Amino acid sequence: MKKGTPLRLTIEDLSFPAQGLARCDDRLFQIDGFFPGETVAGSFGGSKKRRARLYRPVLVEARADALKPACEHFGPCGGCISQHLPLATQRSFKHRVVLELLKQADLDLPAEILLYGLSQKYDYRNKMEFNFGNVELDGPLTLGMYQKNHGFNVINTTGCRLVDQDMRRIHNYTIDYFRRLGIPFYRWSSREGVLRHLVIRHAKFGRELMVILVTTTQQPIDLSEWVEGLKKLPLRDKLVSVWHMENDSIANIVQSDRMNLLDGKETITEFIHGLRFEITPQSFFQTNSASAELLYSRVLDKMVDVDLALDLYSGTGTITQLIAKKAKRVIGVELVEEAVQAASASARKNQVGNVKFIAGDVKDIVADFTGKVDLIVVDPPRAGLIKAVDHIRRIAPARIIYVSCNPKTLAIDLAQMTEYTIEQLELIDLFPNTPHVETVVLMSRVKD
Ligand SMILES: C[S@@+](CC[C@H](N)C(=O)[O-])C[C@H]1O[C@@H](n2cnc3c(N)ncnc32)[C@H](O)[C@@H]1O
Repeated sequence: MKKGTPLRLTIEDLSFPAQGLARCDDRLFQIDGFFPGETVAGSFGGSKKRRARLYRPVLVEARADALKPACEHFGPCGGCISQHLPLATQRSFKHRVVLELLKQADLDLPAEILLYGLSQKYDYRNKMEFNFGNVELDGPLTLGMYQKNHGFNVINTTGCRLVDQDMRRIHNYTIDYFRRLGIPFYRWSSREGVLRHLVIRHAKFGRELMVILVTTTQQPIDLSEWVEGLKKLPLRDKLVSVWHMENDSIANIVQSDRMNLLDGKETITEFIHGLRFEITPQSFFQTNSASAELLYSRVLDKMVDVDLALDLYSGTGTITQLIAKKAKRVIGVELVEEAVQAASASARKNQVGNVKFIAGDVKDIVADFTGKVDLIVVDPPRAGLIKAVDHIRRIAPARIIYVSCNPKTLAIDLAQMTEYTIEQLELIDLFPNTPHVETVVLMSRVKD
């Protein structure tokens, strides 16, 4: 087949995380972001080792259960991939790809694997990191998500439906304001410019909002007028914290060289299962508050009464404090100092006295750990446990509860823990319309 040959393919299967699979002429095409039952057209983009590419695929025939997406940006926007599918269909696909991945790792899986999720499809995120940029060269300033398959083009996501109305209002006001001011956005290629990101955090149960503007220091910038405008916005919940984050690093991620509190207080307060948690600008907090309660309920469901439990990668101490109900003592371990301080402060306010937090790298803290531990809960970042896995095996708790946001690294870690059997494995859909899914695994130690 010649490159450029027009093709029309029907997606037959799906591989992790959301790659549609179609066959033609003995070649397997992997087509990102399309689902079984959909037909796509494009042109042949070449193949390597019998894995073929379809160039510029467009949907020509939808699934019978397809819906009208609520968001005006769906399609070109890189934020969502499956808004056009009912939640039940999205979830059956997530279930299928994760199970397939785990089976490929040759794991001994429980007979029943359920997927849990709430019914809210839109407006659920409590944190969003928008990028400043543009769509065309020298086009107007935009603020939003990267465009699918178009490098660093930024879609102006004024109507984003992953976030709620208050967050959209803050986004829309901010892009209008900086368009009028004419301040340039930071271009990663030339390393020149000022505006980088707008981060909005919303404690949905605490009804408080935090806004963080991330800029370089290449040009002095007076943000007082922007802040005054923010404070006048007609929001349902209360804007209580406004920060300016300075970042001159070349890495294209939200990280700070210096934090300046521009208005209000340093943290926002969120409530999960009746406990209060302080969210600082840079600490991790599950990005869907209502579904976080569901996730933590599934963790608690796997708990038995224990003497000592470790909560590794504890973030703002949510799991630590929740499992403290069923443990005599819990130690949380977290890398980000700011999150550890917030976790200790909230434990004091919640009057949870049987917890302690240690700031440090999990692999170093567990390497030095001696004594009997009954339970270890781990909730690592996407990279998984890496070197910590051997230390956890040496500590040899009777039970491990593994909360994972990345089934790929989960499969690698589970395959190494050969002394443990997988008692339960569940999927929790915290992120409708995206390919992401959480997994909760209960393991019991069966041999030394
Ligand atoms: C997925 S979050 C889990 C947070 C918490 N369990 C929760 O539910 O909110 C992972 C956490 O691990 C922390 N982290 C990442 N690498 C780490 C490391 N090497 N040692 C300790 N903590 C780490 C991150 O800062 C983040 O707070």
